[in-house]
Amino acid sequence: MQTPLRIALIGAGVMGQQHLEHLDGLSQARLCAISDPNPQAATLAEKRGVPYFSDHQQMLADAKPQAAIIANPNNLHVQTAIDCVVAGIPVLLEKPVGVHLDEVRRLVTVSEASGIAVLVGHHRRHNPLIAKARALLDAGALGQLTSVTALWQLRKPDSYFDIPWRREAGAGMLLTNLIHDLDLLRHLCGEVQSVQAVTSNQARGFANEDCVAVLLQFANGALGSLTGSDAVAAPWSWELCSGENPVYPQQVDQPCYLLSGTRGALSLPQLKHWHYDASDAGWHQPLLAEVQAYPAAEALTRQLEHFIEVARGEAVPIVSAADAGRTLALIEAIRQAAETGQACTPAQI
Ligand SMILES: NC(=O)c1ccc[n+]([C@@H]2O[C@H](COP(=O)([O-])OP(=O)(O)OC[C@H]3O[C@@H](n4cnc5c(N)ncnc54)[C@H](O)[C@@H]3O)[C@@H](O)[C@H]2O)c1
Repeated sequence: MQTPLRIALIGAGVMGQQHLEHLDGLSQARLCAISDPNPQAATLAEKRGVPYFSDHQQMLADAKPQAAIIANPNNLHVQTAIDCVVAGIPVLLEKPVGVHLDEVRRLVTVSEASGIAVLVGHHRRHNPLIAKARALLDAGALGQLTSVTALWQLRKPDSYFDIPWRREAGAGMLLTNLIHDLDLLRHLCGEVQSVQAVTSNQARGFANEDCVAVLLQFANGALGSLTGSDAVAAPWSWELCSGENPVYPQQVDQPCYLLSGTRGALSLPQLKHWHYDASDAGWHQPLLAEVQAYPAAEALTRQLEHFIEVARGEAVPIVSAADAGRTLALIEAIRQAAETGQACTPAQI
């Protein structure tokens, strides 16, 4: 058996600590150091018996990790990841990959030139139900994908916005939450060629959007819509429907994504596959529905297992910096479309 991979954590807040809980369950890797300027992280490091650093550069030099998980604030993602890559350390970088496309391009260049891998934490792609959905789509179970509906409608409690930055421009649900849904739509349905969008802040009145309606034209010709709001008492969202994160009580029977093709349809997260018996059947015949089975496994654990393989050079990242950059480009195109009222094309990465 291989010696456990020595992984450092940079940014030991809510998400960083979630990664540690999942790391605890794996024998292939172990925590070797924590870096975070918040003194509370020193207590955490002491509890876990690993060295503490307030500065990640110092940690890279002294603790010499073999890999690093980066879960610090968004605006530090790119520079921290570049520092690790330059030091020869593969990283699992939390989403969003960065805040601006130009900085992401810099990270892509440095990572590709050095051959040091960056895996971006769009963890839903590691959920086995998404892997099964992707396999069904790849096998042609839906025929030609034609119509895509994605819903993200839930209510964040008012207290969520007590933290000032959450009310300020740039921290809205597009970059914080819908980035996950848009990344999954790209993963399942292919690249988006063009978007139109309307956003509004009429429910809460903060600087950020609290309601969005997006039209998506996929490169394969499929058309889609994504409607979202974080101010509505509604169940339709990956968070509430999928049961992926136990902090959200699950709405087991409600879908959040509906994918329809010429030969079948799929509702997620139920993985219900709709189709007719005969290929020329139509709305007068019974539409059959089967719930597809998939193996149970936690997305964050599977992501870490994949990261360990990536760091050992045994796999290429399922979500590279360039790939995650294309999801960020889609967010930027939606913002631009909402501002201008024009159809916009995501920038190239
Ligand atoms: N994948 C997901 O579903 C998911 C969910 C939540 C958060 N996130 C992402 O995780 C990241 C962290 O979010 P969070 O909710 O844990 O925030 P948080 O505020 O709880 O944690 C951020 C931590 O980073 C630390 N930090 C600040 N400057 C630092 C530096 N220079 N070096 C190292 N650490 C530094 C802070 O002290 C804090 O402990 C964000 O990028 C967020 O988008 C992802």
